[in-house]
Amino acid sequence: MPPELRRSVRSYVIRAGRTTAAQQRALTESWPRFGLDFAPEPLDLERVFGRRAPRMIEIGFGAGEALLAFASEHPEVDCLGIEVHPPGVGHLLLGAEAADLHNLRVIAHDAVEVLAQQIPPAAIDIVHIFFPDPWPKKRHHKRRLIQPEFVALLARVMAPGGTLRLATDWEPYAHHMREVLGASSAFRARTADGFVPRPSVRPLTRFERRGQRLGHGVWDLEYERIGV
Ligand SMILES: C[S@@+](CC[C@H](N)C(=O)[O-])C[C@H]1O[C@@H](n2cnc3c(N)ncnc32)[C@H](O)[C@@H]1O
Repeated sequence: MPPELRRSVRSYVIRAGRTTAAQQRALTESWPRFGLDFAPEPLDLERVFGRRAPRMIEIGFGAGEALLAFASEHPEVDCLGIEVHPPGVGHLLLGAEAADLHNLRVIAHDAVEVLAQQIPPAAIDIVHIFFPDPWPKKRHHKRRLIQPEFVALLARVMAPGGTLRLATDWEPYAHHMREVLGASSAFRARTADGFVPRPSVRPLTRFERRGQRLGHGVWDLEYERIGV
């Protein structure tokens, strides 16, 4: 790997979370159908999906609720999920099997390296990053995914006119996102301040419903990859 991409600061810690027997089975049996192994070379996405269609990526999909809903509701879009948490990947595979999805693939690897090395330039039309780890402590801010270097990677892989959707339940992170995106010449906010109402493509999860009951806020942001 080139030295400039060798990272010591990562945006995640691999949590111990238990992988269930069903998830483990899906990780073994369904990986050949839905999984793409990480390799430091560009993917041929037309070959992977067997067609040329609009493409979306969800980064850090967790258990995959939003990604499964999007892929099911948009068979015309080829969807790629990137997540490092094995039980989450297993959960997504179970859902993908059950829904017999033909337009979904998964990479279980650090999204920073995937975007830098495996996704060809201007190949992606939609990117979703919902509730990235907020890393609230100041000394951990450097671990936040949304940073100028990461936004430059997003700009590289996204096609002009493409849509970037972000959501967070941590207000200071929402403002950090606005600052970082606002400083990028590759993106333009879709509204005056970047904030939008919850998009229909982001389902209300159990986590968010609980937050609502506790009076927590959620901030949705939407940006356009500016054409060249
Ligand atoms: C707070 S969770 C949110 C999960 C999901 N998006 C949701 O809304 O429920 C953040 C997720 O991002 C994943 N993640 C963090 N950094 C990542 C990275 N660099 N590459 C891939 N996944 C990452 C974590 O493993 C975790 O599952």
